[in-house]
Amino acid sequence: MKALVWNKDKIELTERPYPKILNLGDAIVKVELSSICTSDLHIIKGFVPKAKEGIVLGHEFVGEIVELGSGITNLKIGDRVSANCETFCGECYFCKRGYINNCQYGGWELGCTIDGCQAEYVRVPFADKGLVKIPDNVSYRNALFVGDILSSGYFGAELCEIQKGDTLVVIGAGPVGLCSMACAKTFGAGKIIAVDIDETRLNLALNLNLADYAFNPRKCDIEEEIKQLTERRGADCVIEAAGGDETFEMSWKIARPNAIVAIVAMYEKNQILPLPQMYGKNLIFKTGGVDAVHCEKLLEMISQGVINTDFLISKEYSLEDILQAYKDFEAKKDNCLKYAVTY
Ligand SMILES: NC(=O)c1ccc[n+]([C@@H]2O[C@H](COP(=O)([O-])OP(=O)(O)OC[C@H]3O[C@@H](n4cnc5c(N)ncnc54)[C@H](O)[C@@H]3O)[C@@H](O)[C@H]2O)c1
Ligand SMILES: [Zn+2]
Ligand SMILES: [Zn+2]
Repeated sequence: MKALVWNKDKIELTERPYPKILNLGDAIVKVELSSICTSDLHIIKGFVPKAKEGIVLGHEFVGEIVELGSGITNLKIGDRVSANCETFCGECYFCKRGYINNCQYGGWELGCTIDGCQAEYVRVPFADKGLVKIPDNVSYRNALFVGDILSSGYFGAELCEIQKGDTLVVIGAGPVGLCSMACAKTFGAGKIIAVDIDETRLNLALNLNLADYAFNPRKCDIEEEIKQLTERRGADCVIEAAGGDETFEMSWKIARPNAIVAIVAMYEKNQILPLPQMYGKNLIFKTGGVDAVHCEKLLEMISQGVINTDFLISKEYSLEDILQAYKDFEAKKDNCLKYAVTY
């Protein structure tokens, strides 16, 4: 089968054997749609130390179950499923508490430490936990982002412990930031403020009614703008979904005292917390790789029309053209947000 394989700083579309069931809890999924994630670019650039060379990339996908290990009872062959980007056992210390990103027997494995989904077929371990049936009225396109980007956006909003009416700033109006805005609404956020240097994305956030205000920090005094909208207190919660030095610093500067700052972005460099300068502001910092435990709920929200992520698909590429898709995605060609890879 065709598969996109990563080695050192290169990716190659090559032939790989079909995956096999290795454990009772495995499933083999025929991939119907997958996507390319910013995190895939982080792997290729060498910023994900645990990533294993020689693996098939990709961790965000939907597809059809074609084979099941004998230990799986809640799924059947032919089921349309959305896959969790995390592999998790559901039973260890961390899984029992919902912290599946730190599952003692899993974590981010697909497309990182084991073969992922940018291939015609993929083996999914602990499939009874990691695969969720897609409701009948939800298409593959509708469900594509549930297991990663939408879960990450939801995770950011959840970390913020949003109280009704809170003013939330989301730094970075990329796919994750936009999903955070959509989810924050469902938590009852009052004002949602999008911050990005990309005006197309800011306009999208406003036009889709995901944000109430949008600012480009290169064109305004962002601290002052946030103060003006919050009776000079600062934001009640901040989601950092951009991932740069400037945005890390901005995240705590625009927060009000006692605010929650949720760091969802993945950095390529260490960041500095200037504690003497922050002393007395009593901030709560939360960081995290997504604990994607709400896939079923998110699919239900999509089914009911509460959330829709279709706008994220800027273009489709076939698996044959995936190398071009990576180039265009990295270059953010034509202001793309996400690409869907078709099979
Ligand atoms: N925590 C997780 O589990 C998880 C899951 C998925 C993605 N991520 C990470 O979340 C981040 C966002 O993902 P994405 O797919 O939306 O990425 P993206 O690159 O499409 O979006 C980042 C946005 O930040 C903006 N930005 C960059 N510099 C800025 C600045 N100085 N000021 C304001 N905005 C600025 C960019 O213009 C862009 O729109 C990435 O770092 C990604 O790796 C984390
Ligand atoms: Zn991802
Ligand atoms: Zn576990």
